[in-house]
Amino acid sequence: MSQALLTLDFLDKEAPAAEATPSGEVRITAPTRTGRQRKLYIESYGCQMNFSDSEIVSSILFDEGFDTTDDLASADLVLLNTCSIREKAEQTVRMRLSQINSHKKRNPGMLVGVLGCMAERLKSKFLEEEKIVDLVVGPDAYRDLPQLISQVDGGQKGVNVLLSREETYADITPVRLNSNGVSAFISIMRGCDNMCSFCVVPFTRGRERSRDTHSILREAADLIAAGYKEVTLLGQNVDSYKWASTDGTEHVNFAQLLERVALLSPALRVRFSTSHPKDITDEVLHTMARHENICKFIHLPAQSGNSRVLALMNRTYDRAWYEERVQAIRRILGDDCAISSDMISGFCSETEEEHQDTLSLMNHVRYDMAYMFFYSERPGTLAARKLADDIPLETKKRRLQEIIDLQQVHSAERNQRGIGRVHRVLAENFSKRSKEHLSGRNSQNQVVIFPRQSFVKGDYVDVLVHSASASTLLGTPV
Ligand code: SAH
Ligand code: SF4
Ligand code: F3S
Repeated sequence: MSQALLTLDFLDKEAPAAEATPSGEVRITAPTRTGRQRKLYIESYGCQMNFSDSEIVSSILFDEGFDTTDDLASADLVLLNTCSIREKAEQTVRMRLSQINSHKKRNPGMLVGVLGCMAERLKSKFLEEEKIVDLVVGPDAYRDLPQLISQVDGGQKGVNVLLSREETYADITPVRLNSNGVSAFISIMRGCDNMCSFCVVPFTRGRERSRDTHSILREAADLIAAGYKEVTLLGQNVDSYKWASTDGTEHVNFAQLLERVALLSPALRVRFSTSHPKDITDEVLHTMARHENICKFIHLPAQSGNSRVLALMNRTYDRAWYEERVQAIRRILGDDCAISSDMISGFCSETEEEHQDTLSLMNHVRYDMAYMFFYSERPGTLAARKLADDIPLETKKRRLQEIIDLQQVHSAERNQRGIGRVHRVLAENFSKRSKEHLSGRNSQNQVVIFPRQSFVKGDYVDVLVHSASASTLLGTPV
């Protein structure tokens, strides 16, 4: 199966130093041509969990006689795997549906379905609000897709938004979409039990559940056998991974899982996301220190630098706790470990001084990278029910800009520190600008570009970095 990464033009940059929308990327699936009868066109919005789910969906539908296509106009089935995290994410999907409508007018046999978090949030209301939609399927109901599609083939609409306490799709081998053949995502858990007051995820993804350790290890081993060099273990809160065998003889926490994946092969790089500051343990940090192939990069979203705001957000840690966790990272892993964050500006009742606390936390930690947003109220969340969304939009945006500007300074500092040093880079792809250059990442997740010479993707290359742009390091192999 030949699959290539297709991203939209405006997102076509090597790597963001300070990016406003981690969930703003859209991925369109590249074609598989195995002579199957029907063609599936699938677009994914939102987080890595959604991209990973689209691989599960494609696997389920492949078995049902669907090849994937990148040509929307000729597709028999169009699926949008949607995101609800901010209002803008939902608006993007609605705009896309109206574009798809014009294709459907020319190709009336085309079926249109919505998957993912927005499907779960809106349920059958989606069918009333968007007449073009035939299918609404929530994140835990993908096994029902074949049945729902035949229902739609029979002239009805299809809806399944049941959430599950058990579903982890453990036995489904994902069809790797848009793969570079080097790095892949492995979903290790689903759902979230945290109830941060701003967040819609617990409502759209249901209760937290961990996937069978053995099925994770099998998936990683299969990827290694297929030539993959990097896996990213995915969950909304990986530190609370907890699995026990049915006979109760085996208990596995996240640190232990991480170690077992790392031990599969020294040539496999292991990454993970997302860590929750309340749950990340010293045991995880020591495990990272013990294994060179566990990447020294921790995404540790702070959200705010002020303890009162953190309490309103129901993050269950305060600033002192967060700073102590950062100190633990520095103590156990040294300065070499990169740390990134998510920040929200203008949360309910946030004062100017409290906003300054976010900036001062950033100055204290000096994040390597951050995803930054202004607060967007989501229906049904704790904050929407209990707190007034009372910060004017201009203020939210101005505070966000101050956060972004500061992060840019810190990201530039980080890039400067990389100059003159040799970085071990896993070559992942051609550079977007030149086929004579390869692009890859170092352990700290910085993008490094270097002359291709005789290297191929999948190689580990030691690169001496001589300069840096806003978001990438440039160097030569040594
Ligand atoms: N599980 C991850 C976050 C997943 S959502 C964690 O706990 O860190 C990704 C990011 O989106 C969050 O970290 C938060 O910064 C942002 N976000 C979530 N809900 C939001 C909202 N209502 N408005 C603005 N940003 C939001
Ligand atoms: Fe949302 Fe909080 Fe769960 Fe992250 S930990 S997904 S922010 S509820
Ligand atoms: Fe969006 Fe759902 Fe992910 S709301 S960020 S797609 S978990």
